[in-house]
Formats: sequence, structure tokens, C-alpha cells
Amino acid sequence: MAEVVIVPDAARAGVLVAEEIVRLITRRPDAVLGVATGSTPLPVYEALRERVGGVDVSLLRAFALDEYVGIDPDHPESYRNVIRREVVEPLGLDPERVRVPAGALMGIETAGEEYEEAIASAGGIDLQILGIGTDGHIGFNEPGSSFASRTRVKTLTQQTREDNARFFESVDDVPEHCITQGLGTILAARHLVLLAFGAGKAEAVAGAIEGPVTASVPGSAIQLHSHVTVVVDEAAASALRFGDYYRYAWSHKPAWQGL
Ligand code: F6R
Repeated sequence: MAEVVIVPDAARAGVLVAEEIVRLITRRPDAVLGVATGSTPLPVYEALRERVGGVDVSLLRAFALDEYVGIDPDHPESYRNVIRREVVEPLGLDPERVRVPAGALMGIETAGEEYEEAIASAGGIDLQILGIGTDGHIGFNEPGSSFASRTRVKTLTQQTREDNARFFESVDDVPEHCITQGLGTILAARHLVLLAFGAGKAEAVAGAIEGPVTASVPGSAIQLHSHVTVVVDEAAASALRFGDYYRYAWSHKPAWQGL
């Protein structure tokens, strides 16, 4: 089962995950990171920025989870731009070693397959950072997504478009389609790190960790993975049935185990 770490706030979560990433890069300078966009991973990137000074990141590779289809690549909220602004530039990564699924309409039919090939030829993803949508999606795998799915085009739910409207002028400007790593792609990463903050995520988090494994809650796919770390604040943990046990297990964890 997933290891669930309940932290006081998002900043503490950021430090915990950033330290794990630094350990990974130190062990394997050409590690492959799976990066997410949205608000949730920002504290991780911030904490990482403060820690990469003494670490060689020149060989680090990264793959984003998803991209909007048909979005102007120069739009500030295209995930290509978000990853450049929040990850590549502040961490000093080589832009040639960082990929985002191609959301351009031209060539979209084959973009998923090409992305899968790129991940495979990088040797797979070592550590995949995940957020979770209020409807339980991970990546942009909306309810009903196959657990075997690979990178492909999906239609966003109205709820996801409304949740993401804060990044656009209005909900009508949020693209209707995305290209996202599939649940099968995500499950192939060697370590999954899912973060969630705030009461608005409590139900999705409880469904993903403790609910039945079902395509209706795509995040529940993480229960099929052998190495998952879930890092949540108290509010996002508030609907968990076994919260006390998770706190107990974390406080009794041998230090040598890491995340
Ligand atoms: C982003 C992604 C999504 C988000 C999720 C939560 O690349 O794949 O699954 O992680 O929509 O978004 P935030 O973090 O903005 O609440």
C-alpha cells in the first residue's frame, strides 16, 4: 500500500519531496523525473531550487505528464511554458533533456506514441510527481480512463475545466482536450509521489488511497503500484479513515528507509 505522510503544510511537503529528488540525482545524475504542472507541485520546485546549487543537474532528464491540445504554444499557461518557467529555468536544467507531450493539432494522431517511445528510450521514469484533480484524475486521466492506457488525447471534464479556469481569463478559454500520459504510463514509473493540499482534495485523496480500485477514481490506480508515497496536509488528509495509523507508521519509520 501507499506510504501516506501527513505534513503540517505544503512547504514541508515540498522540502520532503525535494530532498528525496536530490538523493535520487546524487545517486543517479542522469535520472529521469516525471514532472506535473498545476499548483500542487510548486512547493516541491521551490524547495528543489534552494537545494540544487551543489548538485549536478546537467544530465537530469524530465518528462511532463500532460499538455493542452491546440493551445497556442506561446500561451503562458501552455504546459510547455509552465514547465520552462517553473522547472527548467529555475533549476537550470538542459531544455533539450526536458519533454512535454506535443499538443499541436498537426501531428496529434501520433504524438502519444512518440512520447511513449521517448520515455522508453530514456529508460523509463524514476520518480513521478503527481497531483490529483478534485474528480480524482491523475495526469489528465479523467474518470473512466483505462488502467492500461498510454499517452493519448483525452477530453477534459467540465469540472476540470472549471478547476483550471483560474489560469485562464474564463472557463471558455480552457481547452477541451489534452494529451496525457496514460494510467499505464504512470504506473510504469519506478516511484510515484502524489501530493495534495487543502480540503477540496480530501475526498479525491481518500478515494484514491482507501477506496475501491476503480476507473471511476483514476487516482486509485496508485494502489496497484509497489512504491507510492502520498504527501498531504491535514486538510487533504481529513477524510482518511486510517489517518492515525499513517501518522503512527511515519513517526516509527526507520530513518534509513527514506521515502
Ligand atoms: C497536471 C496534472 C493534473 C494536476 C491536477 C491537480 O500536470 O496532471 O493531474 O495535478 O489537476 O491540479 P492542481 O495541482 O492545480 O490542483
